[in-house]
Amino acid sequence: MHEPVSAPLAIRRATLDDRQAIYEIQRAAILETCRRSYPEEDVTVWAGLLSPDSYHMIHDRYFVVAERNGRIEGFGMLDEKEGEVEAIYVSPSASGMGTGAAILQHLEQRARQCGLKELKVRSTLNAESFYARHGYQHLALIRYRLVPSLMLNCVEMRKQL
Ligand SMILES: CC(C)(COP(=O)(O)OP(=O)(O)OC[C@H]1O[C@@H](n2cnc3c(N)ncnc32)[C@H](O)[C@@H]1OP(=O)(O)O)[C@@H](O)C(=O)NCCC(=O)NCCS
Repeated sequence: MHEPVSAPLAIRRATLDDRQAIYEIQRAAILETCRRSYPEEDVTVWAGLLSPDSYHMIHDRYFVVAERNGRIEGFGMLDEKEGEVEAIYVSPSASGMGTGAAILQHLEQRARQCGLKELKVRSTLNAESFYARHGYQHLALIRYRLVPSLMLNCVEMRKQL
């Protein structure tokens, strides 16, 4: 018997029409996935900062969404000027299926095309092993100020492209 073949993943530039889906994915990922590594009160404040109207970075950054069967499963954001992977979020319902890896590889490919020789990421604690598996080296534990009232422990990581 054959294994069911899952539909292919398509990665494309995000548009403003994707904001609601992006918001729902980021909120769910923070509340479910990041909750395992951060205090409950920080996760609540963090998720509460989000709003579908706050994704102006769609225009300012290389911002992509990953779709399967016409449904957005995750998104990623690259700051090409700073050489930084700024975010990768995958819906908890789609986690562990390679979506995060596909988004990361796509952003790395884009970074190479831009002439970047290395990428940095300020990873959440829960995603450190994900980035490490993809060749990012732990540089330092840092405190990342999301807003004045919320500092998150993160890991600064770097990869030579
Ligand atoms: C980090 C994150 C983007 C990874 O996305 P993902 O689509 O689950 O990643 P992948 O499926 O490519 O890889 C997950 C790894 O865990 C394994 N895994 C197995 N079961 C899993 C499960 N139920 N959930 C998650 N990972 C699982 C996968 O096999 C894979 O291992 P591998 O890399 O050795 O093959 C996702 O967990 C996430 O959105 N986290 C919350 C947001 C966050 O912290 N983002 C980082 C901000 S810098």
